[in-house]
Amino acid sequence: MSINTNLWNRIRYSCWAPIYDLIAVPTRPMRRRSLALANLQPGERVLFVGAGTGLDLDFITAGPIVTATDLTPAMLEKLRRRAEQLNLAVGARVMDGHALEFADGSFDVVVLHFIVAVIPDPVRCIREAARVLRPGGRAVILDKFAPDDGPMPLWLRLLNPLAIVLATNVNRRLGSILAGSGLRVVHREAAALRGFFQIALAVKD
Ligand SMILES: C[S@@+](CC[C@H](N)C(=O)[O-])C[C@H]1O[C@@H](n2cnc3c(N)ncnc32)[C@H](O)[C@@H]1O
Repeated sequence: MSINTNLWNRIRYSCWAPIYDLIAVPTRPMRRRSLALANLQPGERVLFVGAGTGLDLDFITAGPIVTATDLTPAMLEKLRRRAEQLNLAVGARVMDGHALEFADGSFDVVVLHFIVAVIPDPVRCIREAARVLRPGGRAVILDKFAPDDGPMPLWLRLLNPLAIVLATNVNRRLGSILAGSGLRVVHREAAALRGFFQIALAVKD
């Protein structure tokens, strides 16, 4: 039986929810950078997929219309509280990132922070993100990725079985996940740990 399921994700992220914000403190500069690349404009419709506890909300300034979705109610509950504290109007909904309950072209920007390496089927998730973006819309992706080419580095192969159980897959390659998705990468950069953490900005043509 595979552990790579929505059920396991909901269980483990329900466990992480109370301490997630503490563990994720080092990701703050990466979030700030990714959202700067997203360049949110006032009034733009932005969707956060796998939004978690809403740590990204701290970096929203321009006044976009924010929708946040996540599979795990305990994570979203924290997000709702954070939004309230920030006095930010956020439409928060429990939703599976494999099957977004929005019409085609509903958003100007989709934010995928630390979801592509976590969700069971990242290709489906990215395709859903592309579907709900309007033509010309932007997506930012921030996560841990293996190099696009060459053999999987030994340390990532060794780390993956434990990482998968605890929180995330560390053997995913962004290039192959994005191939054929309808999203074109216009910028990609190393965010931390010599490019293990990466940020990509992509556009829907
Ligand atoms: C590593 S956390 C990232 C949370 C947030 N995006 C952040 O940057 O802090 C992964 C999140 O993905 C959510 N998740 C896992 N599987 C999902 C799915 N199928 N659909 C939507 N969210 C999912 C988890 O509940 C968890 O909140």
